[in-house]
Amino acid sequence: MKRIAILGSTGSIGQSALAVIAAHADRLSVVGLAAGENVERLAEQIMSYRPAVASMASTTALERLRDLLPAGTVALPGAARDGLVAVASHPDVDIVLCASSGTEALEAVLAAIDAGKIIALANKEVLVMAGGIVTAAARRRGVAILPVDSEHNAIHQCLHTCDRGLLKRIVLTASGGPFRGWSATQLERVTADAALQHPTWRMGRKITIDSATLMNKGLEVIEAKWLFGLEPAQIDVLVHPQSVVHSMVEWCDGSVIAQLGVTDMRLPIQYAFSYPDRWTTPLPPLDLVAAGRLEFSQPDTSAFPCLRLAYRALESPASVAVVLNAANEVAVPLFLEGRLSFPGIARVIEAVMDAHDPATVESLDEVREVDRRARVAARTIARGLESKV
Ligand SMILES: NC(=O)c1ccc[n+]([C@@H]2O[C@H](COP(=O)([O-])OP(=O)(O)OC[C@H]3O[C@@H](n4cnc5c(N)ncnc54)[C@H](OP(=O)(O)O)[C@@H]3O)[C@@H](O)[C@H]2O)c1
Repeated sequence: MKRIAILGSTGSIGQSALAVIAAHADRLSVVGLAAGENVERLAEQIMSYRPAVASMASTTALERLRDLLPAGTVALPGAARDGLVAVASHPDVDIVLCASSGTEALEAVLAAIDAGKIIALANKEVLVMAGGIVTAAARRRGVAILPVDSEHNAIHQCLHTCDRGLLKRIVLTASGGPFRGWSATQLERVTADAALQHPTWRMGRKITIDSATLMNKGLEVIEAKWLFGLEPAQIDVLVHPQSVVHSMVEWCDGSVIAQLGVTDMRLPIQYAFSYPDRWTTPLPPLDLVAAGRLEFSQPDTSAFPCLRLAYRALESPASVAVVLNAANEVAVPLFLEGRLSFPGIARVIEAVMDAHDPATVESLDEVREVDRRARVAARTIARGLESKV
């Protein structure tokens, strides 16, 4: 029996993970659940899956949760970062699935690594922000970080086909989002509602906007560097609107190995839970005939500059990726609130990056400080652009 803690259990990935656990109840059990503010959904999950420990993002939410549950149902040791740490490092947990949005779970992931837990990582912001610190800690402790993001999960599977020293490059595929092929002028008119309609994946709001701007692919490029120890020149991106090929690797002889599958996150989540084994799944099989054509093209980084900005961060000292991520986390909600245009997201990020003095970051405190300053700068720059929306 593998015993799981889920950070972000009420979200899109969290709910898919619980569905995987329900489908494999003879092999997987839930020990810990952590969520943000959705008290009702977490209460339902606790009554269904009976974890030993749970937490929420604020003490107000935690107290509301306590009021909803019969006394003694579950341990509620704390809220916010402390709560996440308590859930992630509970002694009975074998695998921590990090599926909360944002960067709040960074300390919890490090605590879980310290406690020797396997990390199943869906959250990409954690590695973008502190990839060097997190991967060094995992190496020191001999802990595996198993990628849940479908592209990195695909690369993880493909890398098992040969000796790592013979790898030429990896190719991450991108759906291109709902505005693939649009010009910079057309993108000025994009609304939040239109941007929330992803053509192939159903996901949380932040990652759906990141997919539309191609920032999601940019974050994934940085995530890939840390997960697989790659040089920037070894990480390529191709637009593949059908999202059937989840990603591929190219070996030194030119052979390309790809992983294909249905567009359902239960597949990579299950792989991370079952690894190194494979289990059967209740999901429908991939139907290549129904998929029809599989198309590939180069991403348009002049209409979608976020991907170019992510490559710039990838080739810069580590603080620049922290700035990129922080500015994006400020800009996306402003766009969703109608206070920033769609291209304004990249403009804010680029302006904050331009104003930042690149530096190495050695500790979590340094990371949090760079992050804090970048958020302040992003809010100031966004205010200047707001009047132009
Ligand atoms: N969805 C996908 O297909 C997909 C694919 C690859 C990678 N990812 C990555 O996985 C992560 C989650 O994505 P998602 O689509 O599942 O997002 P989502 O649907 O928005 O869910 C986010 C989850 O995080 C929780 N949360 C937010 N702030 C929190 C905090 N401070 N403390 C504890 N929990 C907190 C939310 O709780 P409440 O709802 O209770 O507030 C919710 O459970 C992101 O980093 C994303 O980039 C997602």
